[in-house]
Amino acid sequence: MYNHIISKKQGVVQLITLDREIKLNALNIELIQEIGKEIDRLNKEKSVRGIIITGKGNKAFAAGADIAEFSEFNAEEGKIMSTNGGIVFNKIEHSSIPVIAAVNGFALGGGCELSMACHVRIASENAKFGQPEVNLGLPPGYGGTQRLSQIVGKGRALDMLISAKTIDAMTALSYGLVTQVVPIDELLDTCIRYINKLSQKSPIAIDTVIKCVNTMYSENKGFNFEIDQFSNCFELEDFKEGTEAFMAKRKPDF
Ligand code: COA
Repeated sequence: MYNHIISKKQGVVQLITLDREIKLNALNIELIQEIGKEIDRLNKEKSVRGIIITGKGNKAFAAGADIAEFSEFNAEEGKIMSTNGGIVFNKIEHSSIPVIAAVNGFALGGGCELSMACHVRIASENAKFGQPEVNLGLPPGYGGTQRLSQIVGKGRALDMLISAKTIDAMTALSYGLVTQVVPIDELLDTCIRYINKLSQKSPIAIDTVIKCVNTMYSENKGFNFEIDQFSNCFELEDFKEGTEAFMAKRKPDF
């Protein structure tokens, strides 16, 4: 049914696995659209009480948007990519069924953004978070500037966003970016147990809580501003240098 994700039901839990292990589960456009379709489908399924998103393998949740795919994009294509991806990430954030990110390794760039669109993040001990887009001559383009600031606060968000630093799981825990850190072989069971507990609560009340919390941020114009800024950067030399450097496995020279 899908080319880049695997979606399996286990009791009341739906497990969505990003299935591009060889590319560290980098989020190409089709993969993101597949997540969107699956979230839409599951929101009509009464028997699903929680969704887990995780990455295939033990190395990465997702190492970002697929740089090879967007490296030749112009501003217009960058805008379409960011807008359509943002729609999917909003679907996750507004899902009536809670979505848990089981972060099992690198969650960088779009991978970190995907985890932040989820309602809860639980990480394995080897998880690493970061927004390294400035190395590519870009800001984040899937809401990272907004959601990171909401979750960890402006100071820590700016530190991570401008330095492109990667933080480990325990630092993410101390920032409140994740709520739990567990050994990798316990990650999925921990998330399943979490959802099994949620399944004893009122689904309508849970949906209402999600809506109420999201309303706190509903007037935020920053998401659209980020899309414009992100797409403008596609016309600049720094973007060309940053993406070429990544593809050639060398350091960029800005
Ligand atoms: N987009 C496209 N391909 C990616 C990718 C991405 N975001 N992240 C990793 N890959 C690919 C690599 O190109 C490589 O492919 P190859 O084997 O065909 O050369 C493969 O996944 C394995 O990655 P590699 O870089 O060899 O692994 P590593 O262990 O040396 O480094 C990372 C791991 C995560 C540090 C490194 O892959 C990385 O920096 N990725 C990009 C992170 C990023 O900038 N994300 C933001 C994108 S907007």
